[in-house]
Amino acid sequence: MHTTVGIIGGGPSGLLLARLLRRAGIDSVVLERRDRAYVEQRQRAGILEQATVDVLRAAGAGERLDREGMPHDGIELRFGGRGHRVDFPELTGGRRVWVYAQTEVVKDLIALHLDDGAPLLFEAEVHAIEGVDTDRPVIRYTHEGREQTLTCDYVVGCDGFHGVARNAVPESAKRTYERTYPYSWLGILADAPPVFEELIYAHSERGFALASMRSESVSRLYLQVPNGTDPADWSDERIWDELDARLALDANPAWRLKRGTVTAKSVLPMRSHVTEPMRYGRLFLAGDAAHIVPPTGAKGLNLAAADVIVLARAFAHLKDTGSAELLEEYSATCLRRVWRAEHFSYFMTTTLHTDPEQSPFETQLQLSQLDRIATSRHAAAELAENYTGLPFDAAL
Ligand code: FAD
Ligand code: DHB
Repeated sequence: MHTTVGIIGGGPSGLLLARLLRRAGIDSVVLERRDRAYVEQRQRAGILEQATVDVLRAAGAGERLDREGMPHDGIELRFGGRGHRVDFPELTGGRRVWVYAQTEVVKDLIALHLDDGAPLLFEAEVHAIEGVDTDRPVIRYTHEGREQTLTCDYVVGCDGFHGVARNAVPESAKRTYERTYPYSWLGILADAPPVFEELIYAHSERGFALASMRSESVSRLYLQVPNGTDPADWSDERIWDELDARLALDANPAWRLKRGTVTAKSVLPMRSHVTEPMRYGRLFLAGDAAHIVPPTGAKGLNLAAADVIVLARAFAHLKDTGSAELLEEYSATCLRRVWRAEHFSYFMTTTLHTDPEQSPFETQLQLSQLDRIATSRHAAAELAENYTGLPFDAAL
């Protein structure tokens, strides 16, 4: 089999890239190692930036998002016994975010792709990428029990942090930057109405807590826990009690924690990682294959979308003009946005979590920073601009 762009991974970045390429008249094949149900049900991110929503709409994947997605115009910060709202449109000249789960984005993109009859193979596991420094790279994969090959003009690794694409770049041709954090998140999904109509990010002496949502009747809630925590050690009751204690809901009479059935429970470690450059020969890296952020800034999915938007434009430019100039610039263009998001995610994480080694001095610095956001328009605008995401024209 031959295609113009061989895409490894059918997560949000691979699926969106395939969709954007198809709209530009460029053929691609997506190889995804898991089955469709697994990919559609993997619980992950929940917040879409304005620019991500705009691109999903332009790609024809905005219909259900516009019906079921929940636009949010701010977040609540809770710290030092009080609550403070950060108003996004007011601070950013009209930008907002949407609560629409990654599972739903993935379902919408898969349905569109299959309706179009576009090539998307599930249970197709890539085990080797060869010849990326030639003009005819080859992807080797297993599908339906047989070894297969896909020859391509270009290969895009959209295969996440544990994929194979990043390892196909020789050590001498890449540089990695990494940081791990001394805490993880315990995340639950619960059949319970949201604590409040907006997300609450809570700093507390007991550790960070985040109250998010998936719908009017489903909550998504997170607690900072020590690394290595076994979710089985956290009974539902213990989780609700801890959320109660950390969210300290008396800051606002409208905040209410209704306990419901917990339908999913998992622990996620926190890491920052960047691999540079995001291109080697005819192999491009996009999304989590190239970079990871800790989830506190809600950036992971949005960064993945941003990469493939840049890449799809570059492939369209090549097709229309014969110029590979934008492909040459892909890595540098993306890395500007990536490093901004890395910094913001690090800032949100280290400002809101309690490091087990943290001194009282450092706690006071965190509280002072949060107080600054609550009292300075500049500081609040800095948070709001980063949270809602850089517009493409400014950063790309
Ligand atoms: P992925 O979603 O990882 O998709 C990669 C795909 O490649 C997968 O479907 C995988 O099966 C496939 N693949 C891997 N190897 C191969 C192979 N050899 N052959 C074929 N296919 C392969 N972000 C937030 O903003 N907020 C959150 O709350 C949040 N929670 C998260 C929780 C977890 C557990 C994780 C892992 C991430 C979370 N993220 C969150 C980050 C966000 O979900 C990711 O940034 C986003 O999924 C990146 O999309 P992607 O398509 O680049 O990678
Ligand atoms: C969600 C996840 C995040 O990491 C975040 O910062 C906000 C919301 C969520 O899953 O809803």
